[in-house]
Amino acid sequence: GPARAAEIRSLIRDVPDYPHPPVVFRDITPLLADGPALTDVVDAFAGLVDADGGVDVVAGMEARGFLLGAPLATRLGVGFVPLRKAGKLPPPVVREDYALEYGTASIELRHGTLAPGSRVLLVDDVLATGGTAQAAASLVERCGGHVVALAFLLELAGLGGRDRLAGRTVETLLRVES
Ligand code: PRP
Ligand code: MG
Repeated sequence: GPARAAEIRSLIRDVPDYPHPPVVFRDITPLLADGPALTDVVDAFAGLVDADGGVDVVAGMEARGFLLGAPLATRLGVGFVPLRKAGKLPPPVVREDYALEYGTASIELRHGTLAPGSRVLLVDDVLATGGTAQAAASLVERCGGHVVALAFLLELAGLGGRDRLAGRTVETLLRVES
């Protein structure tokens, strides 16, 4: 994990019952606003990638995956691919529907965005049920990419995300029980 894991953790604000009970919302905006902490997190992600082998591109899930994935891409010297929520990218797009801890959503990517066989690192802030990550990995693969690993800032271990991603390389910088 990051060099200052406890300090990083303290910059993720837990908000009980938001957006509704019994969800505990994990607000990363204090972390994003802290320059040294954000740099530590991006460096820690970059270290994971070295361990997992090369990547050709970083892909992030809208919206919070953009906030960590884009700086990581520049740190690695590779491009960034946004996996967008439905209706934001012009057609033609490939779409994946998924269930969230609270609600449902869809993400989209255009065929041809990824070079065939591209080694893709997927990045997001939180691994909860794994629904978002599962959909993202599936979407990348349907669009010709190879998912090298999935990396998350915070794993909510009690929600089963890691099991849902069984067989994939999953890296998390911080882990809490739920
Ligand atoms: C949150 C979070 C992860 C996802 C984790 O995103 O940023 O992407 O939920 O949950 P899961 O593992 O159960 O799928 P959300 O869709 O709330 O929206 P945002 O990133 O646009 O804020
Ligand atoms: Mg998200």
